[in-house]
Parts: sequence; C-alpha cells; structure tokens
Amino acid sequence: TASHDLLVIANRLPVSAEEHADGTTAWNRSPGGLVSALEPVLREHDAVWIGWSGRFAPDPYSTEDLGRELEPLPDDVGPCALSEVELGRDELEGFYEGFSNSTIWPLYHDAIATPVYHRHHWEPYVAVNRRFARRAAELAAEGATVWVHDYQLQLVPQMLREMRPDLRIGFFLHIPFPPEELFLQLPWRKQIIEGLLGSDLVGFHTPGGAANFLRITGRLLGLDFDETGVDVPDSSRASGVRRVTVGAFPISIDTREYDAMARTAEIHDRAIEIREKLGNPRWVILGVDRLDYTKGIDVRLKAFTELLEGGTIEPGEAVFVQIATPSRENVEDYQRLRDEIELMVGRALGDHGLIGAPPIQYLHQPFDRETLVSFYLAADVMLVTPYRDGMNLVCKEYVASRTDGTGALVLSEFAGAAVELTDAFLVNPYDAEGVKQALVDAMRDDPADLSMRMKAMREHLFEHDVARWAASFLDALEESEQNR
Ligand code: G6P
Repeated sequence: TASHDLLVIANRLPVSAEEHADGTTAWNRSPGGLVSALEPVLREHDAVWIGWSGRFAPDPYSTEDLGRELEPLPDDVGPCALSEVELGRDELEGFYEGFSNSTIWPLYHDAIATPVYHRHHWEPYVAVNRRFARRAAELAAEGATVWVHDYQLQLVPQMLREMRPDLRIGFFLHIPFPPEELFLQLPWRKQIIEGLLGSDLVGFHTPGGAANFLRITGRLLGLDFDETGVDVPDSSRASGVRRVTVGAFPISIDTREYDAMARTAEIHDRAIEIREKLGNPRWVILGVDRLDYTKGIDVRLKAFTELLEGGTIEPGEAVFVQIATPSRENVEDYQRLRDEIELMVGRALGDHGLIGAPPIQYLHQPFDRETLVSFYLAADVMLVTPYRDGMNLVCKEYVASRTDGTGALVLSEFAGAAVELTDAFLVNPYDAEGVKQALVDAMRDDPADLSMRMKAMREHLFEHDVARWAASFLDALEESEQNR
C-alpha cells in the first residue's frame, strides 16, 4: 500500500538470505555500512527498504526456469519494513554480474580492469531498474522522500519521476564518479546521466566526483550548470527548468559504536589471543578488504615481500595478515584476481616462510564485526592501498577502534577517505618504493608522532560520523525541494 513517507532503494536489502540444505533460511546483516548509517533515520519514519535478498526467483529472461516461488520475507528481520525485489538467476547475470560489475564498476574505478560493453547486459539493467522504480511508485505516500543508492540503480530516479512526479528523490553514489575521458566510453552514457538527473539531489563522496558529473552533464546534454547543480529543462514548471542539486557528502561510520566495541574486555582478550597465535611478533600489519581488484592487495603484498627480501624486515619480526572477503565470485576478473593474489601469497611463503612462523597470513573468509575489531586492535599498522576507492570505510573503522591512540594507518591517496584522513601516511599505490617507505615509516615512527596523527584522525571521525552523513544528505534533499 502507498503509505510510506521514507523509501530506501538499494540493490541489497539490509538483510541477506542464507539458504540451508534443509530448506531453512537464515537472515544475516548485509555487507556494508549502509544499514547502521540509516537505522536511526528509518526509526523516525514510516519507512520501507526496497532491495534484493540474495535469493533467486523464477526468471523472466530464462528459458529454463531455475528459480522458484519465494517464501515471503519474515517481517521482523530488518530495521524497518522490507520489500523484496525478485531477481532470476540469468537476469542477475546481466544486471548484476554484467552491467553493474563488469561495465560500471571497472569504468568508474579508473578502468583498472577493462570494462565490457554488452547490449545483452544493458537490457536487463534497464528492466531491473524499472522493477525497482515500479515498486517504489507503488509503496510511496504522496510527497514521500525516496533515497536511491548506488551504481546498480542509476536509472531509477528518472523512471520514478515519470511515474510519480510528486516524490522528492535523492540519489547517492557510493563509488567514484570518473572523469569524462573515461565516462564517455560508455555507449549508454546519455541514458545514465538522464537517469541520474531524475533526482532532486545527486550526492557523491568527494567534490572531485561531483565536479566530474557536472562537467559531463554540460558536455553531453549541453545543460547549464554551476558548482552546486544543474538546470534541467522542464516545461511543467513556470521557470521552464528543474534544478538538480549536486554535492559531496563523504560517508562515514558509527564511530562511537566502534569505539565502544573496541573497549570491551572480550574484544581486548581476542586481540591479545590473535597476537599470541601469530607468535607475538614485534609488528602485526593488517589488510581487510573484499577481494576486489580495486583494493590494491597486490601492492601491499609486493611491498611487504620486497622488504623481507631486502632484509629491512627480518622474518619473525613482522606478520602481515590479509583478510580478503569473498566477493562477486562469478565475475571473471574476480576469479583472475583471486588466482593472482593466491599465487603471490604462496610464492612469498615459499621463499620467506619459517617453520611454524609464516610471515603472511591470508584469510579468504568473511568475518563478523566483532572479529574485525579484534583484528584492528591487534594490528600495529593498517595497510589500505586501493588504486581507486569511493570512500573506504575499513580505514575509518581501524581509526575508530584505536581507543588508546596507538597504531598507524597507511592510506592510498586514491581512496575518498584520503580527503579527510590527511594525518595518515598517504601513499600513491602505483609507486612501489613509496609504499615500502610508508610502511617502514609507519612501523618505525616515533610513538609521539603516531599518537598525534591518530588522535587528529579520531577527532575528525567523532565529529563526522555516519549519522551526520545521513542527516546532511536528507537536509540537503529537503532544501532542494524548497527550491521548487
Ligand atoms: C560496494 C558497493 C555496494 C555493494 C558492496 C558489496 O561497497 O558500493 O553497493 O553492495 O560493495 O558488493 P556486492 O556486489 O556484494 O553487493
């Protein structure tokens, strides 16, 4: 029923189904920080979250029917009402593995992997976006606020505006927005820009992303723009234009929650236990990522291995732990990456391992948040070296967990977080010598300097937490409406 005054639309619901062989389903919190970001806002409204659950339904694209009728979602598993968008297996291949993760994801991340452009991926992308838009049109109360998330759903704002011009629509992109030199490769570039311009507000993590978007609207559609937005022709308005506000809204984490978790005795004990199991080395160095080619996991492995080879780090003195959560395993570039990383780890262990004291620990497994905080607490140095990253929340989680102000963060200049965490050891991930030097600096720096840096970053995160992010986006959305 059309009763909700706040709608969140994201590819994933806040919970994902884990289907067991015995026919039962467990509901787990979905990956990513969006759920905790939005929880407080959802509670203040009659909200609904529209998304995919991770289960497969009968497929309108498939000749073979691989899916089946889905049991309705239990109504007590999410932070608000949930509305599941059903996706078939073949459809998911075109929409999710194809257009979202083999075209847009690599293109928007500086084409680190080569984007593919397939018409048979574009068509299901359009169809699935329309399904999300229709669902929102059904569920929204008159004048409701709709917040659309991320690159999987860039056509939803325009589709939804056509169905329901009364709605206030905001779109936030959680990944980088590329410069025009790259974006213009996209055969459907105009449709994507027009899709996004259906919003009242389009938000990015960084001013650079917002500027790229504005420049491209001018270049592709010949629209008038300034630093704060763009005027889209609209004959239904007296002014003849509709203003789309564009801006930067750097996402963050629930800083207090991480700080509180890191202060519990249980997590302290687990951190000590982790260090003991690693052989109590002088330095524990940590990486935590989805296993994704944008993350520069190879950069870190190379830096660490070369420091071992050169004798700057003695075996036994430091252990590098890389947690690489399985991700998008049906996409070819991810399969290739996995092979490359595992080859690098295997070689390094073969060349530099000591019996009973491997210098690298590689974990291709998902971990819950408590375990991750235990690792953050156990690590002297956190290595975050993406080639390109929209924001990167792992580095923020590490800083928020360092309650005593110790620890060091090595951070890529090409993560959105580098705009804010300027007291990290900033590196260019393409510069192998620079990464090695930053790692050595982070390990050997004077504790007083380390603690000054960490305290400055912690202060920033207490001030700029995720509640502030969500509130500032929704405030800007409301203001954009008042310009109507
Ligand atoms: C990134 C994207 C999210 C996505 C998440 C996990 O953070 O911005 O939209 O949900 O990765 O990826 P997955 O493909 O498993 O949803």
